[in-house]
Amino acid sequence: MIETSNPNLFTPVQLGSLRLEHRVIMAPLTRSRSIQPDSVPGDLMRTYYEQRASEGGLIISEATNISLTSRGWLGAPGLYSDEQVKGWQAITAAVKAKGGRMVAQLWHTGRSSHTAMTGGAQPVTASVNESYWKNPDHLVSIPGGWAESSPHRALTVAEIAEIVQDYRKAAERALDAGFEAVELHAANGYLMDQFLQDGSNHRTDQYGGSLENRFRFLSEVLNALISVCDSDRVAVRLGPGGTWNGISDSDPAALFSYVAEQLNQFDLAYLHLIEPRVGGSITTHPEKGTAAAQQLRPIFKGKLISAGGFEPETAETAIEEGLVDAVAFGRYFVSNPDLVHRIREHLPLSEYDRDTFYTFDARGYTDYPAYDAVLVA
Ligand SMILES: Cc1cc2nc3c(=O)[nH]c(=O)nc-3n(C[C@H](O)[C@H](O)[C@H](O)COP(=O)(O)O)c2cc1C
Repeated sequence: MIETSNPNLFTPVQLGSLRLEHRVIMAPLTRSRSIQPDSVPGDLMRTYYEQRASEGGLIISEATNISLTSRGWLGAPGLYSDEQVKGWQAITAAVKAKGGRMVAQLWHTGRSSHTAMTGGAQPVTASVNESYWKNPDHLVSIPGGWAESSPHRALTVAEIAEIVQDYRKAAERALDAGFEAVELHAANGYLMDQFLQDGSNHRTDQYGGSLENRFRFLSEVLNALISVCDSDRVAVRLGPGGTWNGISDSDPAALFSYVAEQLNQFDLAYLHLIEPRVGGSITTHPEKGTAAAQQLRPIFKGKLISAGGFEPETAETAIEEGLVDAVAFGRYFVSNPDLVHRIREHLPLSEYDRDTFYTFDARGYTDYPAYDAVLVA
C-alpha cells in the first residue's frame, strides 16, 4: 500500500483482467478535440491523456463512436477507421509509458444527433418521440455551433443486428488500438439508455415493453463484445435514475435493479454507475447522494465503480464503507492533470472552467498546470 491519508483509495484493486494500484479512476470525458472531419485522435489528445496518466491508474476514454452514423457530437473521436486506431495507439502507448492503462468507452448517440454528424443519415433510436427533437434544450454540437437535434426514426430489427456488429468491430479495433478493455456507454440518454428506459422505448416487438425486452439490445451487444474481448475486459456504464438528455422511466428503481441483476450473468470487469445527483456534467440533485450505488451494491455481485459528485474525502469513505470498489472523477480530472498525486498528497484542487469543456483547442484542455508546476512558477 502507498502511504497516504487516503489509505482506501490507494489500495490495489482487481477489475476483471485489470490490476490497478489505486482506485482514483479518470471518468469518461467528451472533450471534442479529435481532428475533423474524420474524428481522428491526434497529438493534442495524446498530450492530454498522457498528462492525466498515473502509475497503476486507469483512464476511461471519452465516449468514442462505433460508426460514422453513431456520431452526435462534433470533435468526439471514433473507433471505426484504421486512421483512428493509429491515433489511439499513440495515446495508449503514451499512457502505458507512464504506468497507466486505458479502457475505451464505446458510444452510439442514437437520437441525440444531427444529420450534419452522421454523414447525412437520419438519427435512429428505439421509437419515435417528436417531443425530443422539438425540445430546444436537446442541442447537438455540429460544425458551426450548437443545433437542435434532427428528427429521428425507429430502428428495424435488422438494423439493430447491424449495430450489434458495429459494436463488435469497434471492440476489435479497441484492442488493436492498445486499450485493455471496453466500457459500453449505456447512460446519459444515448442509444443504449434510449432502449432501456420506457420514456423513449415504446416498441411493441422483442426490444420493447417488458424489462426483459428492453434489456435485450444491451445483452446482445455485451455478448458481441465478450466474443471479442472476454468478459473480464468488458464493462458497462449505467445512469440509474438519470434524467439528463430527455431520458425517463416510469419505474427506474425496478428497471435498474433488473439490469444489475441480469449483468451478474456476464462476469464483467466492472459495472460503472453515474450517481443521479449529477446530470451530464452538472450537479443537479445533490440531495440524491450516492443513491445509485446504495441501490445496486447489494444486487450486483462484481466490482462496482461509481462517479458523480465525489470529493476525495467522500470517495475515501465510500470505499472504506464497502459501498464501491473504486471512484471515477470527471470534472476534477479536467482541471487537475495530476489529480491522483494531489489526492494522495492532500494538495488543493484547481477549479475547472466549464466554458472550455467542449471547445476545440489546447486552451482549457492541456494548459491546466500540475500542482508542482504552480509552485515553481
Ligand atoms: C466535460 C464532460 C464530458 C463528459 N463526457 C462523458 C462521456 O463522454 N461519457 C460519459 O459516460 N460521461 C461523460 N461525462 C460524465 C462524467 O463521466 C461524470 O459522470 C460526471 O462528470 C460526474 O462526475 P464528477 O462529479 O466527478 O464530475 C462528462 C462530464 C463532463 C464534465
